[in-house]
Amino acid sequence: MFYDLAANTWGQEEIDAIQRVITTDRFTMGDNVAQMERRFADYFGVKHAVMVNSGSSANLAAVAALFYKQERPLQRGDEVIVPAISWSTTYHPLQQYGLKLRFVDVALDTLNIDTDQLEAALTPATRMIVAVSILGNPAALDVMRAFADKHGLYLLEDNCESMDAELAGRKAGTFGHLNTFSFFFSHHISTMEGGMVVTDDLELCHLLKAIRAHGWTRDLPPDSPLFERRGEDFFEAYRFIVPGYNLRPLEMSGAVGIEQLKKLPEFTARRRQNLALFTHMFGKDERFIIQRENGKSSCFCFPIILNPAMDIDRAHVMQALKDADIGYRIITGGNFLRHDCIKYYDYTIVGEIRNADIAHDRGFFVGNHPFDLTPQLERLHSVLDQVCR
Ligand SMILES: Cc1ncc(COP(=O)(O)O)c(C=O)c1O
Repeated sequence: MFYDLAANTWGQEEIDAIQRVITTDRFTMGDNVAQMERRFADYFGVKHAVMVNSGSSANLAAVAALFYKQERPLQRGDEVIVPAISWSTTYHPLQQYGLKLRFVDVALDTLNIDTDQLEAALTPATRMIVAVSILGNPAALDVMRAFADKHGLYLLEDNCESMDAELAGRKAGTFGHLNTFSFFFSHHISTMEGGMVVTDDLELCHLLKAIRAHGWTRDLPPDSPLFERRGEDFFEAYRFIVPGYNLRPLEMSGAVGIEQLKKLPEFTARRRQNLALFTHMFGKDERFIIQRENGKSSCFCFPIILNPAMDIDRAHVMQALKDADIGYRIITGGNFLRHDCIKYYDYTIVGEIRNADIAHDRGFFVGNHPFDLTPQLERLHSVLDQVCR
């Protein structure tokens, strides 16, 4: 395809890293994963990073960890404030753990939650906010953290779409008590499948490690605050302390992650060069609403909303993009409330959901990659300019 939604970002370094793992004969989680975790924590300036096998698993482990905290654990029936646009597995763990969702609309310009509505979303049952930065553009993470602190709420940052974005000089994915990342193909770095949870809280870190591996104590140090060792080694070696899963990443993913992380600053710089060109082309054209940058976007891709005040037919636009060999898709998952699975959820809506519907019905995105996209963006601009006349 001339201009695809996703592109491979591996070089020979990643292939060599996998080959090195193969020669060691240790394929399951080991030293490479541990090294990736240390480097990731250092890069983001946080104390702990726990790698898992996907961003979805990162969200699942993060929610589970908050249920097993010794003090102030989450409980079934607690309420969580969420944006109306995100990926399905931002929400599914919340449903699976019996939480009630309070959906808040997004702002049309940033596509992130409208924080003016946080007060209206708050009830005596509210215990957590899930903050999502959509498609590389930081949400008002500082506002949400201040609100969470003021009201004694947990902040879980699902940063699976915005690795390396920054707000006021601080990396997205470090504002929450727990913060999640995805390393899926087409994301800012890719380890085939993979994800990470980062936190400054030692108890949460140890809970995540146990939840990642069967609820087992195997990966915890002897002085872990989560449990007291008893004398018998025979039992201690197979001791389960919380209801966990198997969410462990492969050793190859750890090894590839180390190589990809080295390239991340360069990847982000290149993505941002493309963003500058895209903004130059579309920023002042009133036919198109593009994302207003809040802080420094790491520009996952280029979302475009056809101005609802104008009579432009999206189906017509999609056909023109298809004819020009340009890939496109819905913005993240669109308005989550419009998916079939919502019938399984316990939720309420704060005010009205208008902007998420506009993004759902009149929006789409095209890809961004960590290399020069000048020819692709020029073709995109020429196609949209003509079809939207
Ligand atoms: C906001 C968000 N959360 C979670 C995920 C899940 O990540 P993964 O595909 O690694 O499971 C995604 C995937 O793109 C996402 O966009």
